[in-house]
Amino acid sequence: MRFENKSIIVTGAGSGIGRAAALLFAAEGGHVIVADRTEGADETAHLIAEAGGTAKAIRIDVGVEEDVIRAVTLACDSFGGLDVMFANAGISGGMANLFDTDVALITEVLRVNLIGPFLAIKHAAPRIAERGKGAIVLTASVAGIRSGAGSPAYSASKAGVINLAAVSAQQLTGSNVRVNAICPGLTETGMTKPVFDYAREANKMDRVGRLNPLQRGAQPEELAKVALFLASDDASYVNGQAIAVDGGLSSSHPVTRQEYGRTAA
Ligand SMILES: NC(=O)c1ccc[n+]([C@@H]2O[C@H](COP(=O)([O-])OP(=O)(O)OC[C@H]3O[C@@H](n4cnc5c(N)ncnc54)[C@H](O)[C@@H]3O)[C@@H](O)[C@H]2O)c1
Repeated sequence: MRFENKSIIVTGAGSGIGRAAALLFAAEGGHVIVADRTEGADETAHLIAEAGGTAKAIRIDVGVEEDVIRAVTLACDSFGGLDVMFANAGISGGMANLFDTDVALITEVLRVNLIGPFLAIKHAAPRIAERGKGAIVLTASVAGIRSGAGSPAYSASKAGVINLAAVSAQQLTGSNVRVNAICPGLTETGMTKPVFDYAREANKMDRVGRLNPLQRGAQPEELAKVALFLASDDASYVNGQAIAVDGGLSSSHPVTRQEYGRTAA
């Protein structure tokens, strides 16, 4: 029960990694503001209530400043303050290459994926600091570490999120508010549903995630658990970091691997 009576906001909590995290925060005693722009927010809040937890749903667009302020205000009014912000909402923006990416597309991807976390930090950090300590966790991506896991717009937005975690951790010196990011690899969520659906239908699940040494994609809970760790006092000395949660994908240059079993005695 690491989050007993803690006030927590999760954005993008209507689906995927955000929903998994909201359920786990609530299961560990947290009081959760379930924020999303879709009705998925209400469904997640309902699931938490069914499991005996405490949650309130709110419809927001994370890239709109007034909406983020509304979510922070709801947390403070409902649960007496704010301890944790998990700024997780994001969009893929599709797989458009450099020359198919128009200004409208890259502007929207940056608005949601980068300005969203910026607004979350800006408005959550002062409220968390009032509690004496707390944490902000952002969802970046392996696409933000190097090329090969997303479009130019998406990858640039996630590289920005990694930098935002580092810079804001520094700017919050003395506040006792930590800021870290998770960098998921391929995870089965709403965003990647077509990939997983296609692989299942075509009997090609063995191809999904095969570029990482675990040779599979992740389930949302595997990402959510790392976000909870970073949000908890277990990570009390982890600050300004971006943690890859990708089965080992980003730990290698592109080489032909020697597989266990072929090389082991
Ligand atoms: N699934 C993956 O393989 C993967 C890999 C790397 C990073 N990520 C990141 O993980 C995060 C969570 O995505 P997911 O994979 O769970 O996908 P998902 O589509 O299942 O969930 C994303 C949620 O964010 C919400 N959202 C999108 N734009 C919003 C906005 N402007 N305001 C409020 N809510 C908004 C969506 O409605 C949705 O409920 C995203 O930041 C994504 O970029 C995912």
